[in-house]
Amino acid sequence: MKNLENYKIESKRVLFRADLNVPVVDDVITDTSRIIAVKSSIKKLISNKNKIFLLAHFGRPNGEVVEKFSLNFILPSLKELFDVDKIYFLKNLDEESFKKRTEDMQRGDLCLVENIRFQKEEEKIDLHFAKRISNLFDVYVNDAFSASHRNHTSITGFAKFLPAVAGNHLVKEIDNINSFLENSKKPKMAIVGGSKISTKIQLLNNLIEQFSTIAIGGAMANTFLIANQKNIGNSLIEKNLIEEAINIQLKAKKLNCKLILPVDVVCGKNIKDTKPVNCKIEEILSDDMILDIGEITTKLINEEIINSKMVLWNGPVGAFEYKPYDKATNEIAKTIKLNAKKLNIDTLAGGGDTISAIKNTNAEDGFDYISNAGGAFLEWLEGNESPGVTALKENNFT
Ligand code: 3PG
Ligand code: MG
Repeated sequence: MKNLENYKIESKRVLFRADLNVPVVDDVITDTSRIIAVKSSIKKLISNKNKIFLLAHFGRPNGEVVEKFSLNFILPSLKELFDVDKIYFLKNLDEESFKKRTEDMQRGDLCLVENIRFQKEEEKIDLHFAKRISNLFDVYVNDAFSASHRNHTSITGFAKFLPAVAGNHLVKEIDNINSFLENSKKPKMAIVGGSKISTKIQLLNNLIEQFSTIAIGGAMANTFLIANQKNIGNSLIEKNLIEEAINIQLKAKKLNCKLILPVDVVCGKNIKDTKPVNCKIEEILSDDMILDIGEITTKLINEEIINSKMVLWNGPVGAFEYKPYDKATNEIAKTIKLNAKKLNIDTLAGGGDTISAIKNTNAEDGFDYISNAGGAFLEWLEGNESPGVTALKENNFT
């Protein structure tokens, strides 16, 4: 795979795919790590006197121009974080505008292109479009690991027509995640949470084959509890996946992977209920909703963390956006923070909610690596190479 170390890009017109799909609350970017992630590649390309066009998506405008998804808002943050005076903005992706802008730009200048998902050609893979745009450039760089699981034109299409090079952050993500997965230190534990088991089936099936323990929390644990004939009151479940939950448990047993399921939980009458009750599973009332794992279960997980040599974490174990249902998730983050270095435990985390939980508790230093990818992180852990990475590997333009 070509990367910025082994492939020289100098005085070229560069089409640079970044993932600028940053979290925004009330018009404020709440986490700039996806911007900071591409800085190293951008700086290198600037110092090598390239004209760089930043291509990214924001939200899901579905191939239409939707003003609230314009990438314009991100320009001041890009300037500040990249530490550059000026960044051009290109609203229209037509050839004329592109050509004109390239002529305006000096070597080493940056231009942000409007949300690529405003183009209907983006999500349906349009090779004519890819070819037309590629003709305007000399080289394509993909530094968007967190979007590389999408088989979209800007992720896989340009690599069909241009030399395609991996950016520094993409390389760092792959190296860190792979080296964690390939490390054979034991015991190896995974903590998997989140609301839907449907999004984690393949992950669980893959992890069972490699991990000695998997702790399951979040609403997805409810479907396992139902599958084990427990009463879960009014909690969320995915009825059509009960069978799957049974199969996962059978597979775990066969492969000697210990599953930790909640033995006690924190219930409220709804997500806004601020007077939760910690109870054993057997004590759940018919109008109770499970909103977090309980103290005994948290302790079980924390003990298991301390006795592990490797810990992988994806997904909060409770409805952590709503206090006080963030308690167990925060405690897990703190346990990792306090013990990982001291006990020499290798730690890896990823996924938007997991990152928020780690940041909320200032637990970053407990992790050897935190991926800024959500879906792409998950798919990589499921054992699927991202189409974007495959496109880079298969690219043989020189
Ligand atoms: C993400 O935020 O996970 C990536 O940018 C991909 O975005 P998407 O889930 O809208 O495809
Ligand atoms: Mg996503």
